[in-house]
Amino acid sequence: SIVPTILCGGAGSRLWPVSREMHPKPFIRLADNQSLLQKAFLRGANLPEAKEILTVTNRELLFKTQDDFREVNKQGLATSFILEPFGRNTAAAIAAAALNVAMRHGEDAVMLVLAADHLITDQEAFSSAVAQAMVLARQGKLVTFGIQPDAPETGYGYIEAEGNQVVRFIEKPTLEKAREYLASGRFLWNSGIFCFEAGIMLQALEKHCPDILSATTSCIQSSRTAEGKGFSQIALEPDSFAQVPDNSIDYAVMEKSSQVAVVPCDIGWSDIGSWSALGDLTNSDGQGNRINGEAHLHDVTNCFIQSNKRVVGAVGVDNLIIVDTPDALLVADRSRAQDVKHLYTALKAQG
Ligand code: GDD
Ligand code: MG
Repeated sequence: SIVPTILCGGAGSRLWPVSREMHPKPFIRLADNQSLLQKAFLRGANLPEAKEILTVTNRELLFKTQDDFREVNKQGLATSFILEPFGRNTAAAIAAAALNVAMRHGEDAVMLVLAADHLITDQEAFSSAVAQAMVLARQGKLVTFGIQPDAPETGYGYIEAEGNQVVRFIEKPTLEKAREYLASGRFLWNSGIFCFEAGIMLQALEKHCPDILSATTSCIQSSRTAEGKGFSQIALEPDSFAQVPDNSIDYAVMEKSSQVAVVPCDIGWSDIGSWSALGDLTNSDGQGNRINGEAHLHDVTNCFIQSNKRVVGAVGVDNLIIVDTPDALLVADRSRAQDVKHLYTALKAQG
């Protein structure tokens, strides 16, 4: 069996105003009215070996998450939760999940870590990549899923691969390095999905970041756990969780371990990191405009427009991002999609 483990945290600052602190990126709904989180749930639930979905998320997001799951959990799969009082990054989240899975299902239980902030359009190809990954996980590997890169993105991890073997893992390289990696043709992007046996991950944490593992272990020991038939819910105790060093699994383990393997895959993956990436998923009209919602345009080209409630009108503009929500409106130059995070940071600083 396999335990799909969804990581849901982080505000998605480049998708302001739709993505905010209490409405983070995983809850954004796409044109088919499914949220990224629901898609992550289904990705795990559709695996025939899955008996339970484990989710690590902020405690404030529990009810919102359960609402999303209920809408799509047709087969009534058990749902377990590890609830964080605040984010301590992915190494802590994965450490807590691996400890919990090892305790309930044994050290040799296979986990599939799923990020809740990206899109995979080819479920069939994904399932067959997972089947390959499970074989490698059973051999004691920490398995990553590699995506063919098409741009020198600096927000991703890069995997130098020879077949399933990983020569090097480099998290978030400089632009200069990213260009070099892309040109060499030897690198894949890390998709942010991982597959491993719980006990193997615990050994890797022990070896490469023992401080994270020991702080998370003592946090879990002092936390409240509720268990029922086939599920568990842990509310991580804040004072001890605050002692866990903040680091991502990519830096803390993947860059350091020699047990990393990769399954190269073509699964229709996209990390919807910005409005321009989200716009690329919507079909364009004859003028290069991509519209989610109702918009009336006159002499408008290459714009991305999203509105859930109000009708948007635009005249004589080119290359704009316009995102309307009930209480905030974003207007940005399309080439500056990455900079929307600065608004988010500034607004957050104001409270
Ligand atoms: N529960 C929990 N707690 N989840 C978290 C936390 C946390 O503290 N921090 C992040 N997450 C979740 C995010 O919601 C997302 O689903 C996933 O973990 C990855 O975290 P990101 O913060 O989005 O990481 P990233 O995008 O900078 O980089 C990762 O993903 C890239 C692909 O999208 C890395 O794995 C890169 O190597 C990879 O290329
Ligand atoms: Mg991300």
